[in-house]
Formats: sequence, structure tokens, C-alpha cells
Amino acid sequence: MDANLGRVVITGVAGRVGPTVREGLRGEVGDLVLVDRRRLTAGEGETVIEGDVTDPDVARKAFEGADAVVHLAGCSDEAPFRELVDANITGTFTVLEAARRSGVRRVVLAGSNRVTGAYPIHHHVFPDEPLRPDGLYAVSKAAVEALGQMYADKFGLEVVVLRLGSFEAEPTETRHLATWLSPRDCVGFVRAALTASGVGYSAVYAVSANARRFWDLTAGERELGYRPVDDAARFASRFPDDDPFWQGGPQSGEAATAEFTLPYLAE
Ligand SMILES: NC(=O)c1ccc[n+]([C@@H]2O[C@H](COP(=O)([O-])OP(=O)(O)OC[C@H]3O[C@@H](n4cnc5c(N)ncnc54)[C@H](O)[C@@H]3O)[C@@H](O)[C@H]2O)c1
Repeated sequence: MDANLGRVVITGVAGRVGPTVREGLRGEVGDLVLVDRRRLTAGEGETVIEGDVTDPDVARKAFEGADAVVHLAGCSDEAPFRELVDANITGTFTVLEAARRSGVRRVVLAGSNRVTGAYPIHHHVFPDEPLRPDGLYAVSKAAVEALGQMYADKFGLEVVVLRLGSFEAEPTETRHLATWLSPRDCVGFVRAALTASGVGYSAVYAVSANARRFWDLTAGERELGYRPVDDAARFASRFPDDDPFWQGGPQSGEAATAEFTLPYLAE
């Protein structure tokens, strides 16, 4: 990325994914603005804004003069529905609206592979297939995608949704042999999402080049110009090949079961 790109905001930078993205972009972006509810310390070329991005004033202050936003902040797993609505749907609306008002050119949204998590593992999914959310969290991420599409179509904001796979330093369970997103590929996808030309709206899977993956990578390559480099296969010996996961069932495994969501349905 060209340092002349200017000012890039990362929300939710103090979570699991954020520090890797921050580190990966440092030195490539002229000016990084870091937003989180958690305490952060600014490094060279960085500005810290401690606050809640569901607050429009915080978002507008953070986005002033920004060229692009990488929106990672939100609720990152199954939770009570109203919590997900506030954190992910209202949060993304606030971010997109603040971006529009502030004249931000591009917004990269953290989507999730779980928007299609109810497809069976033997189905190779393309990003333009109908969504099959595996739970309430996935429904909130489906709304995130719809908001991004609307802001692109109606207001000309450039929006890229990265349907992140399982972000881990290394795979820690059988399913990750299909779903792993390595730190290196995570940075690669975010960098490509920020720099690709000709983007209107694009939603792609951000997953490493795992031999056992069940998600399409060609759309990401075509639309963002990024081809992932890592493959979880080199960790395969750590996991039993006869794991019931490979016998069938939904791509999200346990997360797609009714039991996983039932505790969160109480009003
Ligand atoms: N980690 C993964 O494997 C994975 C997979 C798919 C999608 N995602 C998505 O990527 C994004 C980042 O994931 P993560 O694993 O780093 O999440 P995380 O839960 O570890 O971190 C989220 C960060 O956002 C901050 N935050 C939450 N709400 C906020 C708000 N309203 N204002 C300011 N800060 C707020 C939190 O303080 C935290 O630092 C999330 O949107 C998540 O849904 C992650």
C-alpha cells in the first residue's frame, strides 16, 4: 500500500484480529486511527480514539479526514439477539452513516463465513449464493452485508465485506483444516480490500488456501486481486482424519445446532 493513501481507521483494533491488521498495515499507511472501547497506546503515526463506535459522535470524530475505514468492532459470536442488533447492526449502520457524512471513500466490513454456515460441508459455496445463516450472530452479519450493499448502491460508498474464516495463529480444531484464516492471509485480504481498484460493492470469503476449504476463492481473486498463500493442510497430522465433522453436517459444525442458539433466545 502506498503511504500516500492517507488516513485509515481501524475499529475494534484491540480484539483478536485487530492487532494483526494494525501490525500488518503499520508502515504502509500514512496515518492510522485506532478505535476501541478498550484502552490502547498509540505508536508512531497512530492516533487513538477510545470510545464506542455505536455512538455517532465517536464515529464522526474518528472518521474526520479519513480515506478508508476497516470496521472490526462488534460482537463476534452467538449472543442474545438484541445485543447483536446493537453491536453489529446498529454499529455498522453508525459506521457507514458516519463514513458517508465524513466523505470516506471506502469501508471494509468484517463479515463472517457463518452467514452460509448452514450449508453442508460437501457444498462448495460461492459468495453470491443465497445466505444460510447458522444462528443469530450470522443473521446480524447478514444484515451487515445488506447495509453495505445499500450504502454502495444508493450513496456510492465503496464497500468490501470480508467473510472472515477462522482467524488463528494455527488451526486448533478439525474444522479449521477447511476454515483457517492465517494472520498473513488476513492482512493480505484487508490490504487488498483497501487498495483494489474498481470496487463498488464486493463480498468475498477471506480464508486461507486450505485444500479442504468449502468456500470459493476465485471471486476474491477476481474482485480484490488477492490469492491467499497459506494452507492448513500442513497441520493435518494434528487432527484425526476420521473426525465425525468430515462425515457430513453443516459447515459450522456445533455452531449450527439448535442447542448452540437456544440459550440466547430468551426475550
Ligand atoms: N476472529 C475470527 O475468527 C472471526 C471470524 C469471522 C468474523 N470475525 C469478525 O471480525 C471482527 C473482529 O473479530 P475479533 O475476533 O477480533 O473480535 P473480538 O471480539 O476479539 O474483538 C472485538 C473488538 O471490538 C471492540 N468493540 C466491540 N464493540 C465495540 C464498540 N461498540 N465500540 C468500540 N469498540 C468495540 C472490542 O472492545 C474488541 O476489542 C468481528 O466483527 C467479528 O465478528 C472474526
